[in-house]
Amino acid sequence: MNYENILVAIEERVATITINRPAKLNALNKETISDLSKAIKLLSKNEEVRAIILTGSGEKAFVAGADISEFANYTVVEGAQLAAEGQETLFDFIENLKKPVIAAVNGFALGGGLELAMACHFRVASDNAKMGLPEVTLGLIPGYGGTQRLPQLIGKGRAMEMIMTAAMISAEEAKQYGLVNHVVPQGELLSFTTVIAQKIIKNAPFAIAKAIKAINANFEDGKNGFDTEIKSFGKCFGTQDFKEGTTAFLEKRKAEFTGK
Ligand code: COA
Repeated sequence: MNYENILVAIEERVATITINRPAKLNALNKETISDLSKAIKLLSKNEEVRAIILTGSGEKAFVAGADISEFANYTVVEGAQLAAEGQETLFDFIENLKKPVIAAVNGFALGGGLELAMACHFRVASDNAKMGLPEVTLGLIPGYGGTQRLPQLIGKGRAMEMIMTAAMISAEEAKQYGLVNHVVPQGELLSFTTVIAQKIIKNAPFAIAKAIKAINANFEDGKNGFDTEIKSFGKCFGTQDFKEGTTAFLEKRKAEFTGK
């Protein structure tokens, strides 16, 4: 499938989605959100694909935010609708995907861009990356989950400061905060992230999906993460992959997982 604002490539079971509006620093307009949402839905059903990497085109930006020109004249109702639709169709959808999604942050990740990276399961940054939630400079607050995911990732005090000052932090600071897991030279960002993805997909896909679900349950209102873990742990025993993993261990060979 061809998209207007993103590129999708699949290699050795890892899909790389590149947000491709470099002239606008890959800002997320409605079409881009819709392209991303459609592509990720399709990839989630594609049995060939076991992991997804999300990055931005060019060397300057991952995503410089939601497209400000689009919502400059919005009303209260339209503003709330924009946030609700975006959260449902893209940001929450990524967070709850059964396949791992890794953000390769290759430059500015601001506003909706950082929120997109934070919706991914974890983040790797290039050394030139800069991250921030500058919405208050526009008279707004983050609307794609930033007020919730930033404190989850870096703690309440740091999130309060970052959101209220609108300050950008460097890739190294982001690593110190736990916002990104690794910082690498820009030229190595995709190869480094792909190596991590390849390492993940050697493991049992059903178990990976259940691990995502159980970890996320810790952050969901009204959910007891320990209960989710117990149920998910139990379900793993009913899979062919569990039989294959344990048999391969006992036979001293590499497991061949099918996702069944
Ligand atoms: N929405 C819409 N357009 C954006 C954008 C956004 N979030 N971020 C950048 N752009 C556009 C600029 O308007 C400019 O377009 P133009 O060439 O047609 O005028 C183009 O991308 C290049 O950006 P520019 O500002 O010229 O680059 P810069 O290197 O001087 O500054 C930034 C880079 C990231 C510091 C700056 O673009 C910026 O502050 N962007 C907005 C960040 C933001 O507030 N995001 C949160 C939105 S909720």
